[in-house]
Amino acid sequence: MTDRNTEMHYTPPTSDTIQTKPFPIRGERANFVNKPHVIAMVGLPARGKTYISKKLCRYLNWIGINTKVFNLGEYRRHATTAYKCHEFFRPDNIKAMAIRTQCAVDALNDVCQWLESGDGEVAVFDATNSTIERREMIHDIVVKKMGFKLFFVESVCDDPEIVEQNIMEVKVSSPDYANMNKEEVLADFMLRIEHYQEKYQALDESKEKDLSFMKIYNTGEKVLVYKHEGHIQSRIVYYLMNIHIVPRTIYLTRHGESSMNIDGRIGGDSDLSDRGRSYAKALAEYIEEQDIQGLRVWTSWLQRTIQTAAGVNAPQERWKALNEIDAGICEEMTYEEISSKYPTDFAARDQNKFSYRYPRGESYEDLVARLEPVIMELERQGNVLVVTHQAVLRCLLAYFLDKSADELPYLQVPLHVIMKLTPVAYGCKVERIRLPIDAVDTHRPKPKVENNDNTIVNHFY
Ligand code: SIN
Repeated sequence: MTDRNTEMHYTPPTSDTIQTKPFPIRGERANFVNKPHVIAMVGLPARGKTYISKKLCRYLNWIGINTKVFNLGEYRRHATTAYKCHEFFRPDNIKAMAIRTQCAVDALNDVCQWLESGDGEVAVFDATNSTIERREMIHDIVVKKMGFKLFFVESVCDDPEIVEQNIMEVKVSSPDYANMNKEEVLADFMLRIEHYQEKYQALDESKEKDLSFMKIYNTGEKVLVYKHEGHIQSRIVYYLMNIHIVPRTIYLTRHGESSMNIDGRIGGDSDLSDRGRSYAKALAEYIEEQDIQGLRVWTSWLQRTIQTAAGVNAPQERWKALNEIDAGICEEMTYEEISSKYPTDFAARDQNKFSYRYPRGESYEDLVARLEPVIMELERQGNVLVVTHQAVLRCLLAYFLDKSADELPYLQVPLHVIMKLTPVAYGCKVERIRLPIDAVDTHRPKPKVENNDNTIVNHFY
C-alpha cells in the first residue's frame, strides 16, 4: 500500500521537518523555550495578578527565559481618559466595554508580535480575563492563529482581609486614583470589583476542557493544575506553588574578610582575617539587636562563611549550593597571576563575564542554575540570614532586584556590609548596613574596552 500517509511516514526527515533543539553556545542562556508561551492571568481585581505576573517575569528572566508582562490596565489608560470612577467597569456600559475589548485585542497583538519577532519567549498577559468568552478569544488568537502555547493562571481569593490589604498597598497609588484619598479609593475599588463579579466565570475544567491552567486559592493555600503542558509550565507551577506574601526580611552578607582576601587571591577555603573575625562578632551583635522572629541562618560549606555566622544565635544550615563560584584552574590565584598565566582566558572573561566558564570550573550562568533551589527555598521561608560569597550574592541580588545578566557579574557586594531585603508592593527594598570594620575591596570593575577606532569606551556599571 503506498498511500500518502505511508509515503510520508517513510520520508527521511529534512531540515524543514525536523525540529532541532540547539545546544546553547557561549553567550546564550542555557534555558530556552521551543515554542513561545503566553501566560494569561485570570481573576477579579485586587487578587494579586500583577504581583504574580511581575514576580514570575523576574524569575523567568533570571533563569534565562526572556519574559515580558503586558498589563491591560496600562493599555486602557493609554487608550482613553474616559475612566473617572467605577462606573467605567459596569457591564452595561456599552461604550466603555467597546474600549476595553479593543484594548485587549491591541495588547494581544503586541504580545503576539513580540513573541513572533523572536525576541520574546514568554509573554505574561496581566488582565482579569474573567469570562469564558474573553478566554476563548485569547485561545483563538494565541493557539489557533499563532500556534503558541497558552497557560492560564487564576488567582482566587475569598479572604476580604487579603483583598483590602491589596487595595491599600497597591491600588491607592494607581494612576487611576491620582486625586483620591485612601478611603475613596477603597470604596470605588470595591464597587469596581462588584461590577466584575456580576459577569465573572471562574476557570472550569468541565466548560473549558481544552484549556491548560492552574488555580491558586488564597495566595497558595491550595493549588489546582489542569492539563499543564511541558517543561516551562511545570516550572511555572512549581515556582508559583512556592511563593508567599507573608511579610519577612532576608539579610544577605558576605563572609568577613579572609586571609586570601588580604592576599588578593580568589576562591580557596581560608580562615577569616583578624578584621574578618571582628566582623563576625559585630554581625552577631547586630542580628541580636534586631530581635528577628524565627530567624534561620544559611551558610556555604566553606570555612569563612561558617566562621562568620558562628556567633549568630539562631538555627544554622549549610548549603553546598552557596559555595563560591568554582574558579577551576584559577582557584587561589591573584588576578595578576591569572592574566599573566592565562591571558586568553582572562581577556575572554572580560568580554562576557556572565557566560565565561573558568576552565574546569564554573560560569556565572552555571551559578544561577546551581542557585535555583536556594531561591526556591528562600521563597518558601520567613526571616533568613544568608552568609555567602561575592559571586553567589551577585546572583541572588540579581534575582531580588531584577538585574540583567549583563549587570549581574558587576553588582557591588562589598565585604562587611549587610544587605537587608524587604518585599514591598511589586518588588524589593534594599538597605545596605555597613558595619564599621575595614576590609579590602575585592570588586574588579568592568574594564574599559577599545573601540575599532581605538577610542576608549567606558562601560556603564
Ligand atoms: C483595567 O482596565 O484596569 C483592567 C481591565 C481588565 O483586565 O479587565
